[in-house]
Amino acid sequence: MTHEASLIAGVEDIDCRGMTTLITGSTSGIGRQTAEALGAGGATVYVHGRDAQAGKEVTDHITRAGGTAEFFPADFTRRREIIELADRVREASDTLDLLINNAGGVFRSGQLTEIGVEYTFQVNHLAPFLLTAELVDQLNSSARVVTTASAAHNGTSLNLDRVRTVDTHRSFWAYSHSKLANILFTRELARRGEVHGCGWTANCVHPGAIPGSGFTRFLPGPVSKLAQALDRVPGVTSVAEGAAELLHVALSPRTDDISGRYFSDQVPTSPSESARQPQDANRLWRESASLLDIDVPLQLPAKEATWRGRLCVATERGGYWPHPRSILLRYSHHIAIVPRTLRDQWLHTIALPRRCYYHSNCRIAEASPDPHGS
Ligand SMILES: NC(=O)c1ccc[n+]([C@@H]2O[C@H](COP(=O)([O-])OP(=O)(O)OC[C@H]3O[C@@H](n4cnc5c(N)ncnc54)[C@H](OP(=O)(O)O)[C@@H]3O)[C@@H](O)[C@H]2O)c1
Repeated sequence: MTHEASLIAGVEDIDCRGMTTLITGSTSGIGRQTAEALGAGGATVYVHGRDAQAGKEVTDHITRAGGTAEFFPADFTRRREIIELADRVREASDTLDLLINNAGGVFRSGQLTEIGVEYTFQVNHLAPFLLTAELVDQLNSSARVVTTASAAHNGTSLNLDRVRTVDTHRSFWAYSHSKLANILFTRELARRGEVHGCGWTANCVHPGAIPGSGFTRFLPGPVSKLAQALDRVPGVTSVAEGAAELLHVALSPRTDDISGRYFSDQVPTSPSESARQPQDANRLWRESASLLDIDVPLQLPAKEATWRGRLCVATERGGYWPHPRSILLRYSHHIAIVPRTLRDQWLHTIALPRRCYYHSNCRIAEASPDPHGS
């Protein structure tokens, strides 16, 4: 059975039978439509949200359409419940083909969660970070991780001091900052997955401005009502169109080999400059693990080095591999193996990242991904 969102995404012909998928925040809005479309395509869908009744409606809908679905509740303000959600997914299936980190929203009141983190940051960023870390070993080599970000990330830069307090809480800043975190998280996940040779891809999506979802329900009554009324204005992004943005990145063959990108209107797009800072992506990754009191997931090779001055990237291949004193430098599509002692002479200077990582035996070096988003 075909679903409107699949048609809009151009993925209606994709056979999802045999696929195991988890879509967080699929009891409402674009997550729900995405889950229903995947179920209609034959996927096994793990539906997530907090509301058991809404969860049942979605799983019933999928089952009636001939699909398979199960509802797993978890409140993302509670660290333990996120871990339990991952446990239940692991129990239900050995492998995951698609993880859509979609749960989230704009939340009005400033409050700290039980781990002392601002509520929006935890629900929108730390929860998907923890869930992905917990499930990373379930992802098969052709799996896709899709995270729902937003164009609302524009105008903020990473500020990890401000997520430990609500003294200066402003709900829109908190939302915008959490969506910036979604993009930095995606880029770092893609980079670390590539370093580890995992094979899966990670991308994020701006689904459009969608007043018809449940997105505005936590805002003051009149604002919420006004926003929902906009859903009837011609040309406004519908919930199905928003879901199609997710489905395109999740299923389309056109996005097969793309990783670490931010999609808008079904096209990889450059996010804001703050969302393209590799150092911030790395710092967010490490500090998220620290806030959650977990080991840093997908750790990079043992030793980290910062070259003073510009990072140099070799553009020629030497015949030295696997000589123990050779070094493999990688930057974007460039790969080079150079003798360690001649590194500086061999390298062409480019004004890009200053950090790289290498194994302590100096055989493998990995440069940060392109901060300009290419
Ligand atoms: N709508 C827009 O204009 C727009 C634009 C850009 C990006 N986005 C993003 O799109 C995503 C989906 O939003 P939507 O518009 O579809 O809104 P929605 O209809 O409100 O759906 C949000 C989903 O997230 C879940 N959720 C919220 N708080 C949670 C918590 N503490 N723990 C667990 N689950 C929680 C909700 O579950 P419950 O039913 O249990 O609350 C619901 O399933 C969000 O990440 C949002 O930031 C939306």
